[in-house]
Amino acid sequence: MAIRLGDIAPDFTADTTQGTIGFHEWKTDSWAVLFSHPKDFTPVCTTELGYTAKLKDEFANRNVKVIGLSVDSVESHHKWESDIEETQGTAVNFPMIGDPDRNVANLYDMIHPNANDTMTVRSVFVIDPSNKVRLTITYPASTGRNFDEILRVIDSLQLTDKFRVATPVNWKSGDDVIIVPAVTNDAAKDLFPGGWDEKKPYLRLVKQPK
Ligand code: BEZ
Repeated sequence: MAIRLGDIAPDFTADTTQGTIGFHEWKTDSWAVLFSHPKDFTPVCTTELGYTAKLKDEFANRNVKVIGLSVDSVESHHKWESDIEETQGTAVNFPMIGDPDRNVANLYDMIHPNANDTMTVRSVFVIDPSNKVRLTITYPASTGRNFDEILRVIDSLQLTDKFRVATPVNWKSGDDVIIVPAVTNDAAKDLFPGGWDEKKPYLRLVKQPK
């Protein structure tokens, strides 16, 4: 069955390029990005993994652990890693799950047979410290993902977990945010003493809280 927002991310044990990992134990109280790519030694995937490795500090600053997956073996991943380092200029610095038996791919519904019955699609799951799924994205094999967008959504999730705000279209960290409609103006006076810009009673913009 498809995994939906708010579900507990299924736990699994899998072989990875960094040894055997029990998923929930590995992530413990961090956020996690679990993502699949269709196949090793393919061009788009090579660029995605290299770029994700470059974002190591960005993920660490947000308390996020990253883990990749394809239905290739750990041995194949290891061989491919040197190509990624050579062509993308950064060594892969996160574990990659080898899933030739498709145990994890099936658990997370990462194979979409009407698109391709042997390869995983480009799935992304963002999972919070309590193991809840907070974002799912699915891209086709031919389109590389935007990992800056994944960071942007994590920024929004972490902000909106803390404050009674939501983030508007194309928001990025530092931009104004929206006071959620459930907050009355009376309550908003306490929560946002610096005031807000009321475009409509339901559209109130406020500086991003710290
Ligand atoms: C790629 O990563 O380049 C790719 C993988 C599978 C199908 C098409 C492209």
